[in-house]
Amino acid sequence: MGLFQQPVGIVTPLLSVEGASKEFYSRGKKVLALDSASLSVHEGEFVTIVGPSGCGKSTLLNLIVGLLPLSSGRILFRDRAVNGINPEIGYITQKDNLLPWRTLAQNVEIALEIRGVEKSERREQAEELIERVGLKDFEDHYPHELSGGMRQRANIIRTLIYDPDLILMDEPFGPLDAQTRIVLQEQLLSLWTTTKKTIIFITHDLVEAIALADRVVVMTSRPGRVKRVAGVPIARPRDIYQIHQSQEFRSVYESLWKELKPEVKMAGE
Ligand SMILES: Nc1ncnc2c1ncn2[C@@H]1O[C@H](COP(=O)(O)OP(=O)(O)O)[C@@H](O)[C@H]1O
Ligand SMILES: [Mg+2]
Repeated sequence: MGLFQQPVGIVTPLLSVEGASKEFYSRGKKVLALDSASLSVHEGEFVTIVGPSGCGKSTLLNLIVGLLPLSSGRILFRDRAVNGINPEIGYITQKDNLLPWRTLAQNVEIALEIRGVEKSERREQAEELIERVGLKDFEDHYPHELSGGMRQRANIIRTLIYDPDLILMDEPFGPLDAQTRIVLQEQLLSLWTTTKKTIIFITHDLVEAIALADRVVVMTSRPGRVKRVAGVPIARPRDIYQIHQSQEFRSVYESLWKELKPEVKMAGE
């Protein structure tokens, strides 16, 4: 059993997914996308989810944020049943959704602008985050003038700026090249460490899943079920550039790959 697998004491989890199932009706046929998935996430945790394509990972995030109703089961956020879109949850997807007519800084500020935060105050907060992710000289650039990696960094900090309690990330680094991914992983870990946010991060890359997480959730092929939840007993801060070379990493990788491999094969057949 993993190190972080048991909830500590009687502290209520921030998020509790209990037997969540979701069926879709597509062309008159019923498709079970998610089958009785259960998962608890505690405040400040970094949880990653891996599973084959089509196993219901995005569906699970859509249920958590309240974009889709459950078919059965329940999801509690701070002990309240999720019912409609939850504004306390930030949602970051592969697509950055930056507004093309706004500069980087103006995009990052949007949430504060909506809240009516004064201009100099919101610019100050935006600049601090922009600097943290190494985009200082690009504040006045428009999205089309930025690389994919830069846009995704902007996308992450524009979510962080409104300070959601939980951040869901759906394969956010999926389309980026391997080097850029590592840089963004490191920046994300640094932001997570200082902001103490709770993150649920989906990836199809097991190396990424282990490198980032306190706990890794492995899902089965469709209909998606939680197959295993494993703690990652690797000390922090972690050196993202070297972590995969360590013995600890390799043993976690081997044990999780054993669980994931048959699911990936099944999904591909
Ligand atoms: N709105 C929808 N209508 C019908 N089927 C859907 C819908 N959304 C997802 N599905 C189906 O549910 C399954 C899980 O999808 P998804 O959650 O996107 O998987 P993943 O993110 O793990 O790749 C897939 O078979 C997909 O085709
Ligand atoms: Mg998906």
